[in-house]
Amino acid sequence: MKFFIDTANLSDIQEAYDLGVLDGVTTNPSLMAKEGIFGHDNVMAHYKKICEIVDGDISAEVIATTFDEIVREGEALADLHPNIVVKVPMIREGIKAIRYFSEKGIKTNCTLVFSAGQALLAAKAGATYVSPFVGRLDDVSTNGLSLIEQIVQIYDNYGYQTEVLAASVRHVMHLVQCAEIGADVVTCPLSVILGLLKHPLTDSGLATFLADHAKGNK
Ligand code: E4P
Repeated sequence: MKFFIDTANLSDIQEAYDLGVLDGVTTNPSLMAKEGIFGHDNVMAHYKKICEIVDGDISAEVIATTFDEIVREGEALADLHPNIVVKVPMIREGIKAIRYFSEKGIKTNCTLVFSAGQALLAAKAGATYVSPFVGRLDDVSTNGLSLIEQIVQIYDNYGYQTEVLAASVRHVMHLVQCAEIGADVVTCPLSVILGLLKHPLTDSGLATFLADHAKGNK
C-alpha cells in the first residue's frame, strides 16, 4: 500500500519523506489556504517546491468547474512537473475532463467521491486514482470504510486499473483497516503516519532492554 501525505505543509512533507516511507502527496484548496498560499504564481511555485522534496505522485487540485477551464488549468499544472497528478472533482464536467486527460496521458485523481457509483464512473473515465473520503462519511454517520470495501470489490470484478486512494483518513485504525481491505493508497496527515510507530509495550520493552544493558556495562 502506498502512503501519501495529505498536506501542503512543507516541513511535514519533508519529515514524512525523511522517514523513508512516503510515496506521494495530496493537496486540496483548503490545505493550500491553511498554509497561506494564495494567488496563481504562489500556488504554482508551492507545487514545484513539493515536487522538489518528494519523488512521487503529487496531486494538485483544479479550481475550475467547466470542461474547458478544467482542461486549461489541468494542463498548466501537468506542465509544472512530470510527477503532478491533476486532481479533478467528481462532477459531470470533471468526468469529461478526466477522460480527456487520460487520452493525453496526464495522470488524474478524481476527488470528492462518496459513493460506489461515482467511483465506477471515475474508473470508466480512466482516472489514475479515485479518492473516496472515509472520514467525511464517518462524520455524517455513514461507514466510510464500507465504501472503500465496495470500490475495491467493484474494481477487482472488472480489473479496472484506477487505484483506490483512501482519502480523509483521520486516524491509525482508518489506515490499518484500509490496508486490510486492500486500498492501493492512503492519504493522511503526518500525525497518522507517526501514530503507526506507537505502542506502549515497545516503549517499556526498549526501556527495559536499555536498562539491563546499562547494568552489565557499569
Ligand atoms: C485528499 O485528497 C482530501 O482532499 C482530504 O483527504 C480530505 O480530508 P479531510 O476530510 O480531513 O479534510
